[in-house]
Order: sequence, then C-alpha cells, then structure tokens
Amino acid sequence: MSTTDYPVDMSVQPEVTAFFDAATNTISYVVKDPASSACAVVDSVMDIDYAAGRITYDHADQIIRFIQNNGLTLEWLIETHVHADHLSAAPYIQSKLGGKLGIGDKITVVQDTFGKIFNEGTEFQRDGSQFDCLFADGDTYTIGSMTAFAMYTPGHTPACMVHVIGNAAFVGDTLFMPDGGSARADFPGGDAGVLYDSIQKVLALPDDMRLFMCHDYGPDGRDIRWETTVGEEKAHNIHVGGGKTKEEFVKFRTERDAQLDMPKLIIPSLQVNMRAGQLPPADESGKRFLKVPLNGL
Ligand SMILES: [Fe+2]
Repeated sequence: MSTTDYPVDMSVQPEVTAFFDAATNTISYVVKDPASSACAVVDSVMDIDYAAGRITYDHADQIIRFIQNNGLTLEWLIETHVHADHLSAAPYIQSKLGGKLGIGDKITVVQDTFGKIFNEGTEFQRDGSQFDCLFADGDTYTIGSMTAFAMYTPGHTPACMVHVIGNAAFVGDTLFMPDGGSARADFPGGDAGVLYDSIQKVLALPDDMRLFMCHDYGPDGRDIRWETTVGEEKAHNIHVGGGKTKEEFVKFRTERDAQLDMPKLIIPSLQVNMRAGQLPPADESGKRFLKVPLNGL
C-alpha cells in the first residue's frame, strides 16, 4: 500500500502514557481513547534476570496498576514485532486484564526461522496461532471510539508493523529518536534496503504525526526521550534525515551492524516472544527451560 491509502485521521488524539524499562531501554505505552475508558498496551516488558534464570513482573505490574487505578478497559495488547532485546509480558497482562493480543501476520516467517534455530518440536506451531489477531498491511481495528491501523514496515525483522492510532504512531524499531537514527537490520530476515523503504513509508505520514519509539539509549549522555514527530525525523534523523539516499543508508547500516554485539537478551527474548510471550512448555519434570543454541545465531 502507498501511504495515501492508509486511513490516517489526525483529528483523533489518543492519550499516551509511557513506561520506561531501564533494564532494556524499552518504552511500553498505554494508549487511551479520549472519548471512552478503552485503551491498548503497546510492547510490554517481562523482567528477567538471565544469569539467575529468574522471571518477575515489576514493569508489567506498573502498567496493570495504572490501567486499574484509572478505571480503563484494556482492549488490545499490541506487539510491534518479535523483540530480540526484551521479553514481552503481554500474556501476563492479558491474564489479569483481558484484551486481544495482536502482531503482524509475517510472524509466521519469524516463527519458521527461529523454530529451526532453536530446533523446536512439532508442539511449536509456526502459524501465529499463539496470538489472537494477525494484522496484514492496512488492517484496521478499534480501541473504543478510535480506529487504529497497522502499517507493514519490514527490514529490522520480517514481521515489523508500525501501529497508527489517530495522530500517534508507534514505530517499534523502525526508527529511533533523530539523534539515535535507526535499528539494526542484521538479524535473520532483516534487510537494510527493505528497512530504508519502510522508514520512507513512516516519513510519508503527516509531518505533525507524533512518533513514539520502542527504544531509546540516550546518545551522548542526554536524558531518555521517546516522542518526536515525522517532521523532526525527516529533517534531523542522523541515519535517514535530510534526504539521505537508500545507497548511503544501506552502506552505513551494513557497516555498523557488522560491528554490533548480539543483544544481551536475544536468546531468551526470541524463544519467549516467538511464542507470543509465553514461556516454553514444561518438560516431563514439570520445569521450564530456555535453550542456548551454540554457534546458532
Ligand atoms: Fe526490535
């Protein structure tokens, strides 16, 4: 779809509350309909002490308390993509508050790739059935009186979607803040050229569209920030702003990615997030384990 085909409605102004997770530099959001009590949660975080193999829910509990204390109704849990740097808490939040869990329909590609890398058995379905809803490009859904839509933005991963809710777009890892640039494109199924094209789709949204990041690392010691606009990104993004060409971007991105270490939590994150945030099934002892594929990534 071209950007003009998407049902953009800048007159709808959702109330956005951010929850920053300092352990993974992830920002989760509660997005509320100003005309009702309906809300959605975008990209929640489950806490893990990987060295200890310990899972906790402090970050998710903050979000749950916020929703309960404000008398909100959770209608959707949105994952912008299968994250490689933090574990999703979507099923935990869903078990407490309800709502439908959605991700892009190309999750099946991601499940196929990582199902092989982690040598999952046939009990691991590669059809996206762990989610309640699989979005195709341009699909719409409602949060109270608001109409939201999903925009297909592959490149960082094959299943990335930007979710646009009124005048607010949740970009996942398609873009970082202007001084942060863009996310890596070297995970299995990633592609720097495809990412450039997806970023152009986001930058073709209205200039005053609010953009909400999934990550911020506070480059050069600045305070953590997560909100910008299309206009700001177009003018100032250090990787794609000011009219940088696809060739320039691909060259830069490829050289940079070759120097990056794997994210600390990539191994637990993929195994949990490809299952929609569920932990791997218990073995015959009743215990759950994560695998570490040696030289597999
Ligand atoms: Fe990511």
